[in-house]
Amino acid sequence: MKSRHALDASQLDRRAFLQAAGAAAVALVGNLPFAALAQTGSSGKMKIGTVGSGRVGSAIGAAWVKAGHEVMFSSLDLEADKKLAARLGGGARAGTPREAAAFGSVLLLTVPYAALPGLGRDLGDLIKGKIVIDTSNPIVARDGDMAVAAREKGAGVASVEFLPGARIVRAFNAISAARMAEAAGKSERAGMPIAGDDPDAISVASALVRDVGYEPVLVGTLAAMGKYLIPGTPLAGEHSPEEIRRVAATLK
Ligand SMILES: NC(=O)c1ccc[n+]([C@@H]2O[C@H](COP(=O)([O-])OP(=O)(O)OC[C@H]3O[C@@H](n4cnc5c(N)ncnc54)[C@H](OP(=O)(O)O)[C@@H]3O)[C@@H](O)[C@H]2O)c1
Repeated sequence: MKSRHALDASQLDRRAFLQAAGAAAVALVGNLPFAALAQTGSSGKMKIGTVGSGRVGSAIGAAWVKAGHEVMFSSLDLEADKKLAARLGGGARAGTPREAAAFGSVLLLTVPYAALPGLGRDLGDLIKGKIVIDTSNPIVARDGDMAVAAREKGAGVASVEFLPGARIVRAFNAISAARMAEAAGKSERAGMPIAGDDPDAISVASALVRDVGYEPVLVGTLAAMGKYLIPGTPLAGEHSPEEIRRVAATLK
């Protein structure tokens, strides 16, 4: 079910959206005030399913296991995911993509973009209303023509079309997986630009971004800013939170 805090992004200009999302930062996440979560960097213990456990899925998932979350890894190779989970220990486990989608109250979707239409069909009943953190990028050389169309409309809008009903937050889109794997524990946190339409989903994703070692910076809605959360844009690469805010303000 869609959050009662959910915004109709089309009815909001960007400034109004950012104000509303800022207000939502003090809304409750479960029983925990997000303002408190934001300060401690902790998201509480969560159940997370990853769909995709390659370079990005394994790096982010490992950081979340280390932060105390229960993470079910999934991909097209269950045996590899079982080995990954055994290596990580703690709250790590392995399952099929459907099992991971059912397990997680939050999903990390981190697959080649060309897999999104099929996953939208296969997992559709399980992802409706779920918070989905989407790292997946349309890369023409890898994903073919569907990536051309997705880049034209913007990755945020395209992901919403492929995953109807999911409460998508785009994040982790243009920083290398190797950097993500070593971000936790650094004294100075880089910023992580994120985009989304649902304040509760943004709140939860923000806390989980912090658990990986980045400071989340909400840059706008999926429609307005999703197109910039791919490699090769001014927001790509590692920047300070202040730089991200400055660059985002120049983008339309
Ligand atoms: N690599 C980076 O530095 C980076 C940084 C930011 C964002 N991204 C984006 O994030 C996404 C993941 O990147 P990656 O580098 O982690 O890719 P990757 O190493 O190739 O891993 C992709 C994962 O997706 C799984 N997968 C593919 N099709 C699937 C399907 N239909 N159902 C379930 N799982 C499926 C693969 O499973 P199998 O191994 O079993 O095939 C693998 O676990 C991509 O869209 C990429 O553009 C990458």
